[in-house]
Amino acid sequence: MSRTVREVVFVDGVRTPFGKAGGMYAETRADDLVIRAIRELLRRNPQLPPERVEEVAIAATTQIGDQGLTLGRTAALLSGLPKTVPGYSIDRMCAGAMTAVTTVAGSIAMGAIDVAIAGGVEHMGRHPMGEGVDPNPRIIAEKLVDPSALVMGATAENLHDRFPHITKQRADAFAVNSQRKYAAAARDLEKDFVTIATRSAELGWGLASADEPPRPGTTVEGLATLKTPFRPHGRVTAGNSAGLNDGATASIIAAEDTARELGLPVGMRLVSYAFTGVEPEVMGVGPIPSTEKALAKAGLSISDIGLFELNEAFAVQVLAFLDHFGIGDEDPRVNPAGGAIAMGHPLAASGVRLMTQLSRHFEAHPEVRYGLTAMCIGIGMGGTVIWENPAWEGK
Ligand SMILES: CC(C)(COP(=O)(O)OP(=O)(O)OC[C@H]1O[C@@H](n2cnc3c(N)ncnc32)[C@H](O)[C@@H]1OP(=O)(O)O)[C@@H](O)C(=O)NCCC(=O)NCCS
Repeated sequence: MSRTVREVVFVDGVRTPFGKAGGMYAETRADDLVIRAIRELLRRNPQLPPERVEEVAIAATTQIGDQGLTLGRTAALLSGLPKTVPGYSIDRMCAGAMTAVTTVAGSIAMGAIDVAIAGGVEHMGRHPMGEGVDPNPRIIAEKLVDPSALVMGATAENLHDRFPHITKQRADAFAVNSQRKYAAAARDLEKDFVTIATRSAELGWGLASADEPPRPGTTVEGLATLKTPFRPHGRVTAGNSAGLNDGATASIIAAEDTARELGLPVGMRLVSYAFTGVEPEVMGVGPIPSTEKALAKAGLSISDIGLFELNEAFAVQVLAFLDHFGIGDEDPRVNPAGGAIAMGHPLAASGVRLMTQLSRHFEAHPEVRYGLTAMCIGIGMGGTVIWENPAWEGK
């Protein structure tokens, strides 16, 4: 049997507004967040017959309770998809949704399926980081990793140690810029939001329609006074880190020929992707080798990339990436609408948030041919996906 690898496209993506852990989603189930996102995705794309969806891959880092039970399958059933549509769950920590996309993309490229839904959810309020984990003691006893590798904020402090020229002042200035860019772009981002009813025993019903984490008035002076919870006299604070957040994302990934057959929009064309491992103690550097690998696979160089959506787990790790590739701290190609420091990072959901934003930026920038989404990942990994802009006017 001969086989041709098929082009894979990102059709459309949506997300719930992101909440603060313990905030507006405190009494909302995690699975209801992602079910609502899938329902809205299907509503927005009526050209897609539900029975043409052949896989639902949903990521969550803590696959317990309302994030457990093979969430991709149960969310598919509760989203109103036919019972014939299968699903599964994915975990690659912060890169869960990114891995959901690359995994279904592989299935599409080799011809196993034509269309899939990929996304993620993390309710860090209901499922705090590390809930129920039981790391094998040998991982530390045999010095495979330093104990700090299991605390993400501590790995960010380690990164400041490794790159002393990335000062706290620089990290704080980067965080202020993220908040500023987000404030300017919030209206545009809301076009891809799925509003969702929230409930509170105390306050009654509400409607989540805007992100809860942003702090628009943030200043470098204000950030300078914050505590450094991961190390006395450290550099990592609540202001230059992503927070603890709740939210969900969902996207349609399809073979390009199927998208054209069904009349679905082509938001971005997948060019290449790569995941790599790094020392777990400095997991924030992960996107550097994953980007180098994804660029090499695509035969591209960093100068070919016109737009970057980098997950801001911590300012220091984005700055390490920018320094490595010779990109300025305020380069307008990077996170034009701000990043996770402003809007939040519900771990396994964020990968599709990055992709949805890049797709919107592509629409606004037909002069840009290639963009990339990249993120660092706990236990020392990085993930990068390179995309081509179908609206590129150079063709
Ligand atoms: C850093 C972290 C511990 C802070 O948690 P927290 O203490 O609950 O955070 P808060 O939102 O309460 O902020 C702490 C303080 O900073 C202040 N603050 C936060 N952001 C601020 C900003 N932009 N400007 C001014 N003040 C700010 C808060 O008002 C609060 O002040 P208070 O103590 O006087 O009430 C938590 O967000 C964290 O662990 N982040 C990393 C998440 C992570 O590891 N993700 C995975 C990445 S791989």
